[in-house]
Amino acid sequence: MSKQIAAHRGDCFLVPGPVRMTEATLGAMATPTITARGPEFRKVMAELNQRLRIAFNLSPSSPESGTQSWSGEDGYGVIVVSGSGTAAMEMVLANRFSSEDKILVPTNGKFGERVAQMGSRFADCTHLNGEWGRSFDLHEIDEHLASGEYSALLICHNETSSGITQDAPALAALAEKYGVAFILDGITSVAGVPVYPAEWKVEAVVTGAQKCTAGPSGIAAIAVSQSFIDSCKELRQSGKGNPLYYFDLLPAVKKAEDDQTPWTPAINLVLGWAAALVELEKETLEGRVGRCTQLAQGVRNLFSDLGFTLFAEAGCYSDTVTAILYPEGFDDGWRTRLQNEYQTFVIGAQDHMKGKMFRIGSMGNTSVAEMVEGCRRMLACFADLGLDLGKVEVASYFE
Ligand SMILES: Cc1ncc(COP(=O)(O)O)c(C=O)c1O
Repeated sequence: MSKQIAAHRGDCFLVPGPVRMTEATLGAMATPTITARGPEFRKVMAELNQRLRIAFNLSPSSPESGTQSWSGEDGYGVIVVSGSGTAAMEMVLANRFSSEDKILVPTNGKFGERVAQMGSRFADCTHLNGEWGRSFDLHEIDEHLASGEYSALLICHNETSSGITQDAPALAALAEKYGVAFILDGITSVAGVPVYPAEWKVEAVVTGAQKCTAGPSGIAAIAVSQSFIDSCKELRQSGKGNPLYYFDLLPAVKKAEDDQTPWTPAINLVLGWAAALVELEKETLEGRVGRCTQLAQGVRNLFSDLGFTLFAEAGCYSDTVTAILYPEGFDDGWRTRLQNEYQTFVIGAQDHMKGKMFRIGSMGNTSVAEMVEGCRRMLACFADLGLDLGKVEVASYFE
């Protein structure tokens, strides 16, 4: 007997972030202001730190303030950043490298390209500018690292623009082989696809609240290893580091030890993110990653069976975002109609792919019921515009 999937009512919000927040998260953000330096804020910050460690797949810590909730036995610490994911990524690059450091950034989409752009502001960056949606050429990366000139390998782990998840274990092995730092933009991978910072010996991994953890936009976090912190300190002492003030990592580490942030924190966003992460803790990280896989697999199988072409290379599909090429004769006009007539939201493409494909997010709290209903509406909208897809049992793809 197939399992019954509950009906979904209301709009279907299937974008790869910012995602919808639950009532509990929205309610937490409506808490009257608390002071930034008092025990009340320290309590929430300790809870946020403890739950972020779950999201980052790090060793556990206590949610009690005054117990170093930001850190754990695995040697990693979490730093909360007021700003979106890009701010946190800039903090990583600006603190860790100087113009004397050669760094390697292979890319296959828009967000990797941004890592390379940022990298070239703060370091001597070699950008391996690969085709969108194709997997990296590991041999090329190996050859570059073998030169012995590089101090780091940086990647966008889950490329939201092209729907591809990079082969992080293979890249981690290359970074280890050549003794270079391995750094991840994990903005749409953390709490959505498997991430193993300690196993992969990652120095720093960044996430943004508005993606897989279904928190508010405008707040982000970095998981950093002790070697990352040590390298930042050494660079600072050498006098060669980049000029920094607001995004200086060292005061942020010092304040994290006291369940605080160096500057006025984004108090209500902290309250909201801490509440959103309660839901992750209840679902468990495995449960959430498993749900993202179920949703994305269903989407991939459904659209492939109907004759659509997935943009990403087979074998490296992302489970938090699926990029699907429009059939001949279709463009973003379909998306506008889907939004206006079916109250269903997916996202378009960026740069040279604009108007050529659409992307479906499968992250955060999106339920199976919402995805099933959203896919039914997508197919109905294609049918309205003349694409005959026949009768399809959409729910059967998600059981
Ligand atoms: C993989 C990835 N990296 C970076 C970003 C930029 O993050 P933010 O908009 O939070 O600064 C995004 C946003 O969609 C993303 O998906």
